[in-house]
Amino acid sequence: MTTVDSSTGLVHDAHDLAEILLSELPQRWHHSAGVARRAERLAGTVSPGDAGLLVAAAWLHDIGYSTVVRTSGFHPLDGARYLTAHGWPVRLAGLVAHHSEALAVARVRGLEHEMAAFARERSAVADALAYADQTVGPSGRRMSIEQRLTDMLRRHGPDSPNATAHPRRAPQLRGSADRVEQRLLAVRRATAAGHGSAGG
Ligand SMILES: [Fe+2]
Repeated sequence: MTTVDSSTGLVHDAHDLAEILLSELPQRWHHSAGVARRAERLAGTVSPGDAGLLVAAAWLHDIGYSTVVRTSGFHPLDGARYLTAHGWPVRLAGLVAHHSEALAVARVRGLEHEMAAFARERSAVADALAYADQTVGPSGRRMSIEQRLTDMLRRHGPDSPNATAHPRRAPQLRGSADRVEQRLLAVRRATAAGHGSAGG
């Protein structure tokens, strides 16, 4: 099983930065901590070299809500800009910019061009980050992806950019969730097979 060392390095620094920036937003902090915990449990679905990147992105994905970070008012973009300006890895900024299919909402908000400054990766890491974010509610509570999407639409309202982007965004989020669940199943099968052969 892939484990993530949070005591030093990128994950440790990401935790500390998120804790500082989100200290003014306790709910957002609890959500981010919940997403990071979920990401740790999904570490086996990404290559071992990417596990720390995944968990660091989970800690930082919502820092764009902080008043210190906020510029455009679109939190994925603002978070990514802040990370780039402060020398964080390019891939990490890209994951934050594009987390949970943010581009679909950016298009509705007329921010597509600004988002092009950040590379969008389609990867097991991006899938796992989306899955972690979409299975933890606003206050850190575990939710199904369908509960989370319903709750998001209720909170943002029917006339919001999120609601407009929903028909395009939701199928992509469900696609990420399906791929992560398949990878989790494969990890569990491999683990069980390993235990079986070790025992036999
Ligand atoms: Fe989030």
